[in-house]
Order: sequence, then structure tokens, then C-alpha cells
Amino acid sequence: MPMKGLRTIDDLDVAGKTVLVRADLNVPMEDLMMTDGLRIERLKPTLRDLLQRDAKVVVISHFGRPKARFEAKYSLRRVREVLGTELGRPYLPFADDCIGPDAEEMVRNLEPGEIGLLENLRFHAGEEANDPMFAKQLAKLGDIYVNDAFSCAHRAHASVEGITHFLPSVAGRGMQQELEALNLALEAPERPVAAIVGGSKVSTKLAALTNLVAKVQVLIIGGGMANTFLHAQGVNVQKSLHEADLADTARAILVKATDVGCEIILPVDAVVAETLAPGVAVKTVPVTAVPAGQMMLDLGPKSVEQIIARLKGCRTLVWNGPLGAFETAPFDAATTAVARAVADLTHSNTLLSVAGGGDTMAALAKAGVDTSISYVSAAGGAFLEWLEGRKLPGVEALLANQRTSKAI
Ligand code: 3PG
Repeated sequence: MPMKGLRTIDDLDVAGKTVLVRADLNVPMEDLMMTDGLRIERLKPTLRDLLQRDAKVVVISHFGRPKARFEAKYSLRRVREVLGTELGRPYLPFADDCIGPDAEEMVRNLEPGEIGLLENLRFHAGEEANDPMFAKQLAKLGDIYVNDAFSCAHRAHASVEGITHFLPSVAGRGMQQELEALNLALEAPERPVAAIVGGSKVSTKLAALTNLVAKVQVLIIGGGMANTFLHAQGVNVQKSLHEADLADTARAILVKATDVGCEIILPVDAVVAETLAPGVAVKTVPVTAVPAGQMMLDLGPKSVEQIIARLKGCRTLVWNGPLGAFETAPFDAATTAVARAVADLTHSNTLLSVAGGGDTMAALAKAGVDTSISYVSAAGGAFLEWLEGRKLPGVEALLANQRTSKAI
């Protein structure tokens, strides 16, 4: 079911047209090897579809965070071979600039059904500044703009927002799929809805927590940020990571939750150690009995049991952030146990589960269940901003373009 009001590549006649596809090729690379292929996997249906329909496809993307000038380590040449191989076209045409004569020549040489890649958009200051002149130069290269990079939708950059003022603009399949999954999880979900929010700091997820309290029936808080809530309730968290200055904020969230009938689940026990290091001596204690000089680094088994029991009564789950310091064993145990339970509940069709965020993806992959979740978002920052209930400039721009541009 397409998202209401969002025009997609299905609404286009692309044969013989030059289609600029904003992709997110900001993929993790070690030398010339890609270490996680999810983003490219999600991009392939759009590219394949356009190519089959005889479009001339021009892929545009950023890669890393260069400082508005060429830097070899941020060159998309590094990703070119990976993308080409994934598409079964190893010698993908490539232009050393994303605007100007090089780019124009590459585009001119494309035949219908061919695809090329342009150099990193962020080598130009105009990209992040959303400079209309830069957006116009980009737009000049094509007839149609397709945004297939939900993970960049929170950036009001020229290739995401500005360009839509110059070209008919639609969503690609990856963008469409992402928005539909997120919509099912929070905008029109089956209730009860639970959210798991983990990670180290409340400060980075304050807006998300505040938004979620108003939208979900059960809010499970884990990771280091749970310590701030426990501290706010008067628990002595000892050396555990916590943000004492956010105690009032944490209390306000708890009060708001009570007011709106959102049940907040905090850990009742924890795995503690003196330091965060592999092989360190650990102990499981109630959260109210953390020994002096020790810190909570993972949830304990009672907390895990409590979370799983509560999830069994829910129909929808949104998950962002690990429950413990999952990169270091044994502090990955709670995240892994909950991830496996979520996978089982998803498998038996009692739960629709949507997860997102870089750490969350890594944690689910480590638990071996990343393919057993209903939908794993390929986005980091954009997923979080969506959890915060914010309008994403990339999506808004597509909707606005649809209202103003004529039928294609
Ligand atoms: C991401 O990796 O989340 C996206 O590619 C956006 O990258 P950015 O945070 O550098 O804008």
C-alpha cells in the first residue's frame, strides 16, 4: 500500500528519460570491501526497475563527511565497483564530479537501460548548504528525480530537498518501503504498541522518548540511559554511566507517561563490573544494590524476563538502541536474549517489529536475528528523527513537489 500522497516510480513513464536517483551509498567500507550491504540491497529494486524500463539512470550520493572538497578516502570511486558488481555491471561509468562538464559528458553517453555514478555530492559546499544554484546544476543533468535514500531524508541538502524545486520528483522503492514500514509501526499500528529505547545517553534520545511516551502503550528503557532514570528515582547507580543533570527531565517523562497511560519499564536487575572490558569479573545484582565502585553494563535476567513477558502482550514493536554495552561480551546477553524473543514473536505472527539505528542493526546482526525482524530500517539519524515525530525534509519535499508539479 503506497503512503498516502506519495508519488512513486510506478507513476512515471521513464523510457528514454534521464533519471537522477538520490541513493545513500554511504556504506561501511574497509578498503574496497563493503562490510554491510543492506543499503545497496534496498536500492537495487529501484535501479533494476528503472533500467528495465529503459531509463538512463544517474546515481547521485554522498559518502562520508568530507569538508566540501575532494578527499580520496571519500571518493565514490571506492563504492563504484561494489555497486557495479551488485548490479551485474562491473564497469559502471563514473564521472569525477557530480556537476559540470565531466558529469554532463557521462550522462550524455548513457544509452537507455544504462546506468552511471557521479562523484560524492559533498565535495561541493552547495550540497550541505542546500544552495539553489548547486541544486539547479544537478537538476540540469536529468529529466526526473527519484529519492531512494530515506536514510538521508533528515538532511535538507541540495540533492535531497533543493533539487525537488527543479524536477518532477518521486520516491524510489526503498524510500517507499521504508515509509510504509514506519507508518505501520507508529502512525497506524496495531495496539498495544511497545517501544524499546536503549543506548548510552538520554540526552541523544530525549526528543524520541518524549514523542514515544505519547504514542506507545509500553516504553521499555534500557542501556546506559536507563541509569539516568533510575538515578532520577533516587537509586544509587554508583559508577554507572548516567546524566545527573537530566534527572528532572527524566522525572518529567515519567510523570507524562503516567498522565497519558504509557507504562514505562525500567530494569530491575543488572550485570555489573568495575570496568567495561572483555573478560572482566561480573556480578548480577538488583539495580538497588549496585556495589560501590561498580557500574551497570547490561540488564540482568529478571529485567529480560520482564521485557519479554510484556512484549508477549503487544502487537507492534519499535526498537532503537541496544540494552547493554553489547559490543563487549558478556554485556551483549540482554540485547541478544530480547532480540531472539522478538524474532520468535515476529515469526509466530504475534508481533510486527520494526528496528532501526546503526547500533541496533549491529546488535541484531550480532544476535543473528536481523533477517527475522519484520523490518530493519537502513537509516540511522533519519530513523531517530522519525521516532522524534519530526517532519523529514526529504519526504516533505517529495510531497510538496507532488502538489506543485504537473503530471509527468
Ligand atoms: C547515514 O549514514 O545515516 C546517512 O548516510 C546520513 O549521513 P550523514 O549523517 O553524514 O548526513
